Amino acid sequence: FEISNQKVNESCPSNIALIKYWGKYENQIPANPSISYTLNLCKTNTEMQFIADEPFSVQTFLAGKEELKFAEKIEKYFKNIERYLPWILKGKYIIQTENTFPHSSGIASSASGFGAIAKCLMNLDKAFSGQTDEDSSLRKASFLARLGSGSACRSLYAGLVVWGETKEVSGSSDLFAVRYPNEEIHEVFRSFNDWVLLIHEGEKSVSSTVGHGLMNTNPYAERRFQEAHENFASLKTILKNGDMTVFIKMVEHEALTLHAMMMMSEPAFILMQTGTLAVINKIWGFRKETNLPLFFTLDAGANVHLLFPSNRDEEKIQEFIIKELVQHTQNNGVVKDVMRF
Ligand code: PMV
Repeated sequence: FEISNQKVNESCPSNIALIKYWGKYENQIPANPSISYTLNLCKTNTEMQFIADEPFSVQTFLAGKEELKFAEKIEKYFKNIERYLPWILKGKYIIQTENTFPHSSGIASSASGFGAIAKCLMNLDKAFSGQTDEDSSLRKASFLARLGSGSACRSLYAGLVVWGETKEVSGSSDLFAVRYPNEEIHEVFRSFNDWVLLIHEGEKSVSSTVGHGLMNTNPYAERRFQEAHENFASLKTILKNGDMTVFIKMVEHEALTLHAMMMMSEPAFILMQTGTLAVINKIWGFRKETNLPLFFTLDAGANVHLLFPSNRDEEKIQEFIIKELVQHTQNNGVVKDVMRF
């Protein structure tokens, strides 16, 4: 390795899981496989400056403002991945990062954030080692991103992305994410809207690290992990034949199960807010009335991801969202995204 001063820039999107990852073992090994849509517009842009032959240290700035806590987290992360990047502790880092979506909006900034950092690191690795195989570099970036934040490993690829070993997806692994094969995805799932209704901004009452940990003592955990595997098998058929009704049922069930697990943890916790439930009920009412394919999923937070395919019905759905969900509820706005692949 020939290390030298470098400045690299990378951008990485966030993602939203359809089958959720909740519960893990040592070394960020997921307790069950998960699959997500990579968002297009919700991104983190990161500039990493590496100053060679300085004592190891990390300085981080979020939207121009120095963040000491985040720097500590990254230092710990870099020490943890030294065995995979032997040069990593041989210099000083200045990391500038910004999100294209409101910070602390609850949109997974750790996924896009660690995704972008892992990509920057692989750029440095390329410069130092001369290794240029794009596929293996991307896979290693996904591997490294996983060690920062599990779900981040799925953000390295576009479209539908799988993390966690499942017999339903060949090549799938607990160590890194892989793309779900495009030819196995029906047209209707390839152009989707994801609008995030901001219900609650600010710190979550329970972090996802703590939440994952509570699955260790959750009496329903084993059944949940098994169900995620079963859902993968069903989803494979759904994705192939384009059955939107069953797809909606499964995606909403997955979201509610995630939050049910939180409620059944010891100690119990609830991340949904009154607004979350109000929106869910309105969506169900709208679907009953119109039969149009508007549905929701949730992350580990109160905000609601509104999902609907891009097709001739989308205008009616958008009108409903703006009039009934954005203007008539007390929430803080909406972040619009669209996934096309
Ligand atoms: O990547 P983490 O540790 O922040 O976990 C995120 C887990 C969920 O967002 C709730 C589900 C998922 O699969 O992304």
